[in-house]
Amino acid sequence: MTTPKDSTSVRDRLEELRQEIRDHDYRYYVLSKPIVADADYDKLFRELKALEAEHPEWVTPDSPTQRVGAPVTSIAKVEHNEPMLSLENAYSEDDLREWHTSLLNYLKAEALGSDFVAEPKLDGVSIEVVYVDGELTQASTRGDGWVGEDVTHNVRTIASVPQRLRGEAPKRLELRGEVIMTKDDFTKLNQRMLARGDETFANPRNLASGTLKALDPKITQERPLDIFFYGLGKCEGFAPATQRELLEGLEALGLKTNLRFARFGAIDAMVESYRELQRIRSEFAFEIDGMVVKVDDLALRERLGLRARSPRWAVAVKFPAMQGTTTLNAITVQVGRLGTLTPVAELEPVEIGGVTVSRATLHNEDYIRKLDVRIGDRVFVERAGDVIPKVAGVVKEVRTGGEREFELPKQCPECGTGVVRDEGAVASRCPNPSCPARVLGALEHFVSRGALDLTGIGPSLIESLVKKELVKNPADLWRLTKTELLPLERMGEKSAAKVLKSLEEARRPPLSRFLFGLGIKDVGETVAELLAESFGSLAALAAADEAALTAVKGIGSEVANSIVTWFADPTNARLLADFREVGVEPVHESRPQPVGNGAFSGKSVLFTGTLASSTRPEAEEKVVRQGGRILKSVSKNLDFLIVGADPGSKLKKAQELGIEILDEETFLKRLGG
Ligand code: IVH
Repeated sequence: MTTPKDSTSVRDRLEELRQEIRDHDYRYYVLSKPIVADADYDKLFRELKALEAEHPEWVTPDSPTQRVGAPVTSIAKVEHNEPMLSLENAYSEDDLREWHTSLLNYLKAEALGSDFVAEPKLDGVSIEVVYVDGELTQASTRGDGWVGEDVTHNVRTIASVPQRLRGEAPKRLELRGEVIMTKDDFTKLNQRMLARGDETFANPRNLASGTLKALDPKITQERPLDIFFYGLGKCEGFAPATQRELLEGLEALGLKTNLRFARFGAIDAMVESYRELQRIRSEFAFEIDGMVVKVDDLALRERLGLRARSPRWAVAVKFPAMQGTTTLNAITVQVGRLGTLTPVAELEPVEIGGVTVSRATLHNEDYIRKLDVRIGDRVFVERAGDVIPKVAGVVKEVRTGGEREFELPKQCPECGTGVVRDEGAVASRCPNPSCPARVLGALEHFVSRGALDLTGIGPSLIESLVKKELVKNPADLWRLTKTELLPLERMGEKSAAKVLKSLEEARRPPLSRFLFGLGIKDVGETVAELLAESFGSLAALAAADEAALTAVKGIGSEVANSIVTWFADPTNARLLADFREVGVEPVHESRPQPVGNGAFSGKSVLFTGTLASSTRPEAEEKVVRQGGRILKSVSKNLDFLIVGADPGSKLKKAQELGIEILDEETFLKRLGG
């Protein structure tokens, strides 16, 4: 593609690119069905950016490049045209039926004459988004229901929110929906923030809420928020008759409503849906805290009207509380793979949210002191989603005086070594690397799902292998023979063959999983991926010093220190030598790198000014083909600034930062090899 030079064709191309990118955004973020590879999308985006940079006078506010605007200095207040109400809560099937009965009573003899619809209750932040003539004009939080906060700058950055609606847009559309973050994204982001030493958040809702209120939309753009729409405020030119029509209408406009659980029917079907939704609750990518039942017919909703702060036509049936109370029978101590001693509450079994809980974590000694929890106490136990249950509080009012305080042992309960507590650490740990509990934990971690994922090798097999001293470190697994395996409990010909086969197939594991599997302190899955992508091989990582590590975006000095310390430890050096000896060699398959040894491999590049030899997009593409990356602006991470005629302010900034500057001739020479 050559970029057109005359102004009409440039403008045509600009609009064509914008439309094409919008279309891909819609397919990717709303429908989750992309039709191009990421690299092709990036190419279009770069072309649009470059053209717009050459013609800033033709940049439109609804251009896909304009999602991230300037920071705001303060958050303005916004009055809602129609109040954003809350819902009446119900807590059981009986409550739901009662709500239904009162609805019928309100209508007296009249039949309801409408279906109900059941939707998941998303546990996020409620939002209003306004489109005028198809253009996104404003987004605001609920606030007190009447006056909310203007968060337009941040909502614009959410990729599934179109800047402009598809198809024939209504005159005015006030949408109501929920901003959420998926559980996965939440965990990853929290881990990254933890690694960077930033403040972390208790749950996805808090993180979404904090992010929405950021002043700088750049912050929001880096945090993957999403929106689902489920209702309307004041509208002109959009008047669906039912909830079903409402949702379908919004979908046709390119909006995301896909709640993946929408049932229509009579009240019995709603009760059934409530059971089903509870059953599949954890399968949702995001947190849901109940089910919303709504009258389907919108005209009937009008007639039913409002109670004080909630509509009569809907009810939120919450899921059973994830908390319970029980007796703390004892406190045991678990030793983890890094030697960390974790006090565990042994509980009188109690049912919480459909699961029987008999153990819960007490985190560490400080936590026990803070709660002032004693053996024999009546305690609150909490279970959130998929995480390990924890003791969350003590019912001190019912103490008898017979409760006993707990002391963390001074010796490791597994190997008897004296425990240590590192400066600044909250946990005590067993410093003995050969402690059987640590060896066991390390092995279990190494074979686990996120790491090498060795099928057929579960915790019980690991335990017998360690007990029989057949395996002392992960590399020993590859020394196992069929003769050694067969005498083990529950091990037949078939399972032995399966174990050996899965080991055989894992001789060249992906570097990121292998690194994660090594169990280096502070190296979780995300950091392991970053390391693999940045260093490419185990040898390169082992050779990296702290400076080389902290140069990687997302790796702070604490993490860097853990990595350097790990590789410096002779025991670990021996482990790596063992892996080599048994023929296990992790490999890294990086994301498609156009040219492995390209002229700009691993380098970041930015252009300023007009090039004589080619257009900006063409030049950028050449850099990318030669392994380079194009940056958005001048920063200390930039390797080269390439300067054409009439350079802009980037040149001055790059000079100030001491960035290497190439003129066009040098650039072409480098490209040419
Ligand atoms: S309909 C009159 N549908 O729950 C309010 N709300 O407790 C009509 N929510 O403020 C709201 N998922 O933020 C509706 N599928 C859903 C919902 C939902 C979550 C939130 C919403 C509302 C709160 C009420």
